[in-house]
Amino acid sequence: MDADAIRGRTLVEESREAVVVLDDADLVVLASRRARQAIDGIREGEPFPPALLTGERGMSPLVVPYEVNGRRERLVFLSREGDLAAYEELRSGFTAAVSHELRTPLARLLTLLETATLPGEDVAELVEQATGEVAQITELIDEILFLSELESGARVVALGAAPVRPVLEEALDELRERASRAGVELVLDCEPDIELRVRPRMLRVVARNLAENAIRYAGPGATFTLSAGRAPDGSVELVARDDGIGVDEAELSRLFERFYRADRARASRGTGLGLAIVKHVVTQAEGTVEASGARGHGLEIRCAFPAA
Ligand SMILES: Nc1ncnc2c1ncn2[C@@H]1O[C@H](COP(=O)(O)OP(=O)(O)OP(=O)(O)O)[C@@H](O)[C@H]1O
Ligand SMILES: [Mg+2]
Repeated sequence: MDADAIRGRTLVEESREAVVVLDDADLVVLASRRARQAIDGIREGEPFPPALLTGERGMSPLVVPYEVNGRRERLVFLSREGDLAAYEELRSGFTAAVSHELRTPLARLLTLLETATLPGEDVAELVEQATGEVAQITELIDEILFLSELESGARVVALGAAPVRPVLEEALDELRERASRAGVELVLDCEPDIELRVRPRMLRVVARNLAENAIRYAGPGATFTLSAGRAPDGSVELVARDDGIGVDEAELSRLFERFYRADRARASRGTGLGLAIVKHVVTQAEGTVEASGARGHGLEIRCAFPAA
């Protein structure tokens, strides 16, 4: 096989879509692993099930004919009806939510600017408020960019295992001043020898988001503890716990949704992306996240990473 043929074969085989190559007699020449696993009756060298081409099995085929060495072949992309629609819906929902979230601070900014043109207004104060709105818009855009970086497969997993403690320590130290203004104590509880195969930049984002939430929502007098420990089976648990106001139990499972904010948080700044980002990083590192707690009894976010 020449280089092009090898590339072509690899491309089809490793495709994330269900894709097959048919010859002019509708025999399967090549099928992606996804197609072989997800759809019954697809085997290389055997006839392609005709029902798949007519859309009878709930599949919508996209057929691309071409010629190779004078023979006609077809490339067939198969997706379940609704798959694409569901994806498109998710995307457009996301775009709508982003636009909505941007509109609020932009509207406030506009009002502030208009007010500043009126005689007798305290312009310095208005400018300070406007600066705050711009900071919020910037933060939102940064979060969205980071999230899409993650979704497009940015490397979360590190090549080797990296020590956890220095990263957590630095993340908390950066937030200490804000925490003390909010009356929240930050505590780190991590053995020096704990390691994770997560890039430090990603781990820092996780730690920062969890601590920021406690500073913002737990309430004065609360203590936030970030701990990391290794279980006997070698898996590592990162646990963020505070003893603040918490959320209603019914809300726990929704916290990781994009733009979800518990009702009482609405008055404060924030976009509802922090925990979605945490979940993304942890799941891409093959870990799991879980929230527990109850209103008035603090919040606990538990991230479990498999043994390296
Ligand atoms: N430690 C906590 N105590 C009480 N409520 C919390 C805590 N952490 C998160 N929440 C609730 O969960 C919601 C979602 O948190 P998340 O971090 O995803 O978004 P956010 O903090 O509102 O915005 P962002 O993190 O994008 O700036 C928050 O709005 C808040 O209602
Ligand atoms: Mg947050």
